[in-house]
Amino acid sequence: MKFAIITGASGGIGRAVAERLAAEGWSLLLIARDGARLSQLRLELGEAYPALREQIAWLALDLTALDAMDELLSYLGETQQTVDLVIHAAGCQRFACLGDQDDSAMEQQLALNLRVPMQLTRSLLPVMAPGSTIVTVGSTFGAIGYPGFSVYCATKAGLHAFSEALARELGPDGPRVCLLVPRATATELNHGAVDAMNQALGTAVDSPARVASELMQLLASRQRRRFIGWPEKFFVRLNALLPWLVDRAIGAQREQICGFATIRPAARQAPVLPTEEKQS
Ligand SMILES: NC(=O)c1ccc[n+]([C@@H]2O[C@H](COP(=O)([O-])OP(=O)(O)OC[C@H]3O[C@@H](n4cnc5c(N)ncnc54)[C@H](OP(=O)(O)O)[C@@H]3O)[C@@H](O)[C@H]2O)c1
Repeated sequence: MKFAIITGASGGIGRAVAERLAAEGWSLLLIARDGARLSQLRLELGEAYPALREQIAWLALDLTALDAMDELLSYLGETQQTVDLVIHAAGCQRFACLGDQDDSAMEQQLALNLRVPMQLTRSLLPVMAPGSTIVTVGSTFGAIGYPGFSVYCATKAGLHAFSEALARELGPDGPRVCLLVPRATATELNHGAVDAMNQALGTAVDSPARVASELMQLLASRQRRRFIGWPEKFFVRLNALLPWLVDRAIGAQREQICGFATIRPAARQAPVLPTEEKQS
């Protein structure tokens, strides 16, 4: 049975991906901080696919913590598992203009969106099975700089570059490294101000199920990168070739976007990790 690790498995996209992989009979390790949500997801997947009940595990882990990689490796060591697929779906964003991005918001985005996928990939390379795949989840904002998202854009652009460079470094005999690039998606990542902005600007918003379906198509293909949605795909190309045109288009909306970026999100607390419930 093939074994996949999904970070951010309790989130909108991670959960939809977990459902698709379970439907295809994958054994799964679900990772996020909130053990209660992971445990619930495992229960639901086990009910939907009884044959997989013993094949789905979860690990409550703050991936930005210094000992997170050691903890994951020791878990894998105990289970003696090699890894066929890693989906880096954990991520966070703070929609705010740069002056309102405090150090902790900046650090959290840099750590979770960029440092963690790099460290986790490095840690897992020795236990990746032959023919295995690593999927990083980027963002349209990793290819198009957007007001209110300067830090997030920088982390995702870094992730895109990491994914491309590593794919070239590992070559055809190493694990396949690919990049999935969603556009706006209806998940908790987008707090009220982002939703309100997307509505006001008429931005298309995908369902997590659509993103999961694109990910399954990416896995089934030989593609290294898969961008989701028009007109975003077009603007990504235009931004690479004629960025001044995109400067102009986004510039015309700058004041409106920055207005939304000043709306404060409701405080969302990081879940506390109960040590005795860290894994199952
Ligand atoms: N939604 C969009 O519009 C959109 C668009 C393009 C790209 N993306 C990318 O898609 C990926 C998934 O996003 P999403 O929309 O599904 O977000 P989401 O619903 O907010 O899910 C984020 C996931 O990451 C986990 N997480 C957060 N901080 C963590 C930490 N320190 N350690 C471990 N896990 C952590 C969360 O669980 P806990 O809180 O329990 O830890 C949750 O499972 C992200 O990389 C995001 O940047 C999203």
